[in-house]
Amino acid sequence: MLVEDLDTPALLVDLDGLEDNLDRYQRYFDEHGIGLRPHIKTHKCVAIAHLQMRRGAIGITCQKLGEAEVMAAGGVDRDILIPYNIIGAQKLARLVALARNTRLTVAADSEYTVQGLAAAAAEADVALGVVVELDRGRTGVGSPAAAAALGEKIARGPNIELRGIMSMPATPDMRPLIQETLAHFDRKGLPHPIVSGGSTSGAFMAHEIPELTEYRAGEYPVGGVGHYRRGTHSVEQCAGRVLMTVVSRPAADRAILDGGSKSLSAAVYREENGSSIVGHLVEYPQAVFSGASEEHGQVDLSACDDKPQIGEQVQVLPVHPCPCFNEHDQIFAVRGGQVEAVWPVDARGQIR
Ligand SMILES: Cc1ncc(COP(=O)(O)O)c(C=O)c1O
Repeated sequence: MLVEDLDTPALLVDLDGLEDNLDRYQRYFDEHGIGLRPHIKTHKCVAIAHLQMRRGAIGITCQKLGEAEVMAAGGVDRDILIPYNIIGAQKLARLVALARNTRLTVAADSEYTVQGLAAAAAEADVALGVVVELDRGRTGVGSPAAAAALGEKIARGPNIELRGIMSMPATPDMRPLIQETLAHFDRKGLPHPIVSGGSTSGAFMAHEIPELTEYRAGEYPVGGVGHYRRGTHSVEQCAGRVLMTVVSRPAADRAILDGGSKSLSAAVYREENGSSIVGHLVEYPQAVFSGASEEHGQVDLSACDDKPQIGEQVQVLPVHPCPCFNEHDQIFAVRGGQVEAVWPVDARGQIR
């Protein structure tokens, strides 16, 4: 099947760009002796997770337990990190059930979380790994001393094993915090086999924190507008695109596409000049994809010499690939204008 024969809107992954990204990020982490643990919340696709594992990923990261269940059921079950406080009876029952067949590590930032994990793991007689999360403005423990104090409680818990620390993100300016936390751990004799950093935007600076043992990157396989603008991804390396069709040209300088926030997500990118865009048209780089309602994309063509016509297809880079992929049931894996595979977005909607 040809890409031009697809009905739109359709989520595409360009296989040349995807493979290039999988290879270059894996190569970087291999060269620096840091384990790459891809965050699958971006693509939510078992087939892509297998490609990542085959290239040398040490395991995967899943933001939500439901994502981990889907990945494990799809055979991506060797070693899963869930960097999230898992609390509540329903989730704890599912977590320990998953831990029977999968090496699992979860994050904790409170005694409340730790007690729940320990009680559930002991009752089910399974082992759970736990890392202490450091606070960088979202969840996390507020100081190195508090992180080590929580680490001590984890080390004492039944059926839970202290595996180290994590932070989100992990930019070089955070090295002193990480070092200080590890020094507190060492003074108490606490183990830290995992020192986990994350975020695609800082990925190629990971070696500036030599303490990192592993890294969670999510968006690197598919890129997006921000990665393109920052220059970590060329337009070819921005492999995740939404194929759309021009359905209207209400004025000489405007085009309306058949995809809006329900195809791309509601994410907005602020350009350096202060303007906002919701996507980038690959074939018409001068076009400004300035706004979207649910099923309509508004494109300003005033800067374009050449303008798309009604009925024409265009490929759009999303601003934020993670919620964009979550809007779609299927990924069309394409190469050179041909559809090579259709993959389900297996963990779509797994928010629990
Ligand atoms: C805990 C955690 N780790 C890693 C990542 C991956 O970051 P990115 O999407 O920039 O690759 C995220 C992204 O939200 C995250 O929340």
